[in-house]
Amino acid sequence: MSVVLDAIEEKKWGRRLPDERIRDVVEGYTAGDVPDYQMAALLMAIFIRGMDYEETLAMTRVMADSGKRYSFPECVDKHSTGGIGDKISLTSLPVVAACGAPVAKLSGRGLGHTGGTIDKLEAIPGFNVALTSEAFERQVSEVGFAIVEASDAAPADKGIYALRDATGTVDSLPLIGSSIVSKKVATGAGHLIYDVKCGSGAFMKTPEAARELADLLVRLSESLGIRSSAVITDMDQPLGSAIGNSLEIREALRFLKGEPVARDLDLLAREISVELLKLKEITDPERRVEEAISSGAGYEKFREFVRAQGGDDSALESLEVASEVTEVRAPASGYLKKVWAIELGRAALALGAGREKKDDAIDFAAGVEVDAKVGDRVEEGQAVARVYGSRNLQRALEFAGRAFEVVQEPVEPVPAILGRVQAG
Ligand code: URA
Repeated sequence: MSVVLDAIEEKKWGRRLPDERIRDVVEGYTAGDVPDYQMAALLMAIFIRGMDYEETLAMTRVMADSGKRYSFPECVDKHSTGGIGDKISLTSLPVVAACGAPVAKLSGRGLGHTGGTIDKLEAIPGFNVALTSEAFERQVSEVGFAIVEASDAAPADKGIYALRDATGTVDSLPLIGSSIVSKKVATGAGHLIYDVKCGSGAFMKTPEAARELADLLVRLSESLGIRSSAVITDMDQPLGSAIGNSLEIREALRFLKGEPVARDLDLLAREISVELLKLKEITDPERRVEEAISSGAGYEKFREFVRAQGGDDSALESLEVASEVTEVRAPASGYLKKVWAIELGRAALALGAGREKKDDAIDFAAGVEVDAKVGDRVEEGQAVARVYGSRNLQRALEFAGRAFEVVQEPVEPVPAILGRVQAG
């Protein structure tokens, strides 16, 4: 029998796969020797029967080894499992770089209602996300901060992920864990924090599922030589106020200049910065983060990073946002019980701020700004959000209108951070 048929046979009866079998199958699939239909059968067997920790580790290792591997042992990185309005890479990373923790990051584009850091950066005129590996490494050493598009890291994951997406096998814990960590191992940063999102706008819908994933990500990373920790954060409501590319850059700049931003964004951006400095064993991390924000050092680091990657930093304060702005009003007086991230993400997507299909063009100027959070008191007709743009406006307004659920009894605000996972 072929290697992949052996693997399907073993896994379908719930037996564990030896490390060499996992390596042979993944390498065979990446080389084009294992056809999609057999790989899909194996993925479904894994989805149903699971993989133990050792199998998951073997899968992670072989996927990390399938393409280019960078090495930045001194650097920090962060990974978010994907959310709506998530601009933590644009806020925390310049701050930690300004505090002396170099950042080397490979990022992705958005698909569906979740945004991607690469698209947000491309909203800055001239910004180049496709540095050569030499230029990437040079910028990390000279500026202490670089973000490029992840194109050559873990190609095995790219192929397998696309197949999982088409065969209903995405939501399997060992497959998600090995997929995420393989890319982080290939990126090569020595210190890493995971931001595992939980709620309607996230992959993981419950705190229990988010914790299970966070535990796995930290354990796999530590086994593969990355010092790591995780936070579990709310994604039932969007993070901060802005959703959409230029709008999110604008909000990130406000944070970096020490101007007021939504409390959840302020808290999480600071927390992740502090955690990264702790992983790097930099002393007095809270004070350093505060100083990097209040002195403007984080903002200046962001501008230096933009210039280094060919962007026009003089354009940062005047990024184009859509001139057609429509207010979304509270449907009743009372307290906000829910501000559904998923509906606001759909609204931004309909307006053109994201892509429904991989090759769709993005409108950087489109999006939504949300002024209210769960627990806030609102009056009927009060503006609670603004929609930027005119594409599919009626559909976008319907989604945005559904996002705000008002009740009569007071509602407790939702904490931005739901849990933490440390190594060990
Ligand atoms: N993100 C990834 O990179 N991989 C998964 O499997 C799920 C989310």
